[in-house]
Parts: sequence; structure tokens; C-alpha cells
Amino acid sequence: MDKISKGDILSYPRLYRANLINSLSGYKSANLIGTLSPNGTENLGTFSSVIHLGSDPALLGFILRPPTVPRNTYENLKRSKYYTINHIAKDFLAEAHHCSAKYAEDISEFERTGLTPLYRNDWPAPFVAESPVQLMLKFKEEVPIKVNNTIMIIGEVEAIYLQDGLLQDDGFVNLQKGEVACINGLDAYCLPNQEKRFAYTRPFEMVKEL
Ligand SMILES: Cc1cc2nc3c(=O)[nH]c(=O)nc-3n(C[C@H](O)[C@H](O)[C@H](O)COP(=O)(O)O)c2cc1C
Repeated sequence: MDKISKGDILSYPRLYRANLINSLSGYKSANLIGTLSPNGTENLGTFSSVIHLGSDPALLGFILRPPTVPRNTYENLKRSKYYTINHIAKDFLAEAHHCSAKYAEDISEFERTGLTPLYRNDWPAPFVAESPVQLMLKFKEEVPIKVNNTIMIIGEVEAIYLQDGLLQDDGFVNLQKGEVACINGLDAYCLPNQEKRFAYTRPFEMVKEL
């Protein structure tokens, strides 16, 4: 096996280190976060740090890089209180990746990529129409992470929109059917295959497949 020590990690050039360390947390979720600026510019950003925080209430978190440079997603959602999380799928990988480019606040990634903004109700944040899993979140809390000046943003799920055929009888959302991608490192988009589902498992019982 290759062994990499902490000393090695510290000695690597920035990009090499970023590629290495971003691969360590495993396959990550692939999302576009949609927001609206106060003057009406629609914004999209690529985010791989979305995590489940709890089901009751339904909470999702994501990690924001240090706000040492303008962060459009952060500034917009703090003002409007709403943002969308849209799963990235096979048909728009390149467009989704391009939303990680550092565009100025007055430029819309929707316009630059050709992705389609979609509004529902009176929510002040655009969904990505092409996405098979579209979520509306309301901003609840930000948690500063002192060790590296990042911020965890916590939001409550206000509404869920799923492409037909993804929602199964027991509430499970079959992401594979929507060709939803995940991310390896910072730039590799993968399409996972669901191998098995298992029933709720208890101590001393053999695990059962669903
Ligand atoms: C695959 C990938 C995943 C990313 N994940 C995050 C993330 O979880 N948090 C973050 O702050 N930036 C992340 N970024 C960087 C943002 O996409 C980038 O800073 C973008 O410009 C943010 O857009 P905004 O300024 O419009 O908010 C990621 C970039 C890529 C390519």
C-alpha cells in the first residue's frame, strides 16, 4: 500500500494536496445550490458537502468555504432565507461543474450554462429544472467551524420535488433511476450502481435483503 504521512501531506503542492484530501471522505453527493440575489440575479454553485442532519425535523447541512472572498450562495441565502438543493445528474455534468467557476455576483450561472431556472410558489430561489431531485430549503442556522474558518449552513426542507418513478412505496428515493451522480475528489463525477438494500437490522439477527 502507499503510505502518506502528515509530513508528506504538508509538503505537497496546493492542488495535489487538495485532490488527495478531497478524495478521502469517499464518494460525495453532487449538488447545485440555487439562490437569488436582492437585485434578482439567479445564482448556482456546485457543492459536494451536503449531508443529512436529521429527519424530524428534516434538516440538511452543507459546508461553506471560508468567506474570505465573496461567496454568492452564502450572501444570497442569508438575505433571502431560502435556497434550493438540486441533485446533479448524468445529462448535465459539464454544466453543473462549470457552476463552480467564480462568477461575479451580477452574472447568472443559469445564463452561462444554459441550465433552466424554475420557480414554484412564491419562493425566492430558483430550482434547476433539469434536476431529478429538487429541494427547497429554509435557512435555519450557521455554525462557525473554528479550526479552518469554514461554516456549516443548516436548512430545513420545505418541499421535495422528485422526477416520476423515483419515489418507492416505503419512502426510499431511488437515485439510480434518476441517474444522479456522486463526486470523487473535486472533479470526477461518477454514476453509482445500487447493489443491495437491507431491512432494518437488529443484534444477533441475520441481515435480510429487501
Ligand atoms: C466538485 C466541487 C464541489 C464543491 N463543493 C463545495 C462545497 O461543498 N462548499 C463550498 O463552499 N464550495 C464548494 N465548491 C466550490 C464552489 O462551487 C465555488 O466556490 C463556487 O464559485 C461557489 O459559487 P458561489 O460563489 O456562487 O456561491 C465545490 C467545487 C467543486 C468543483
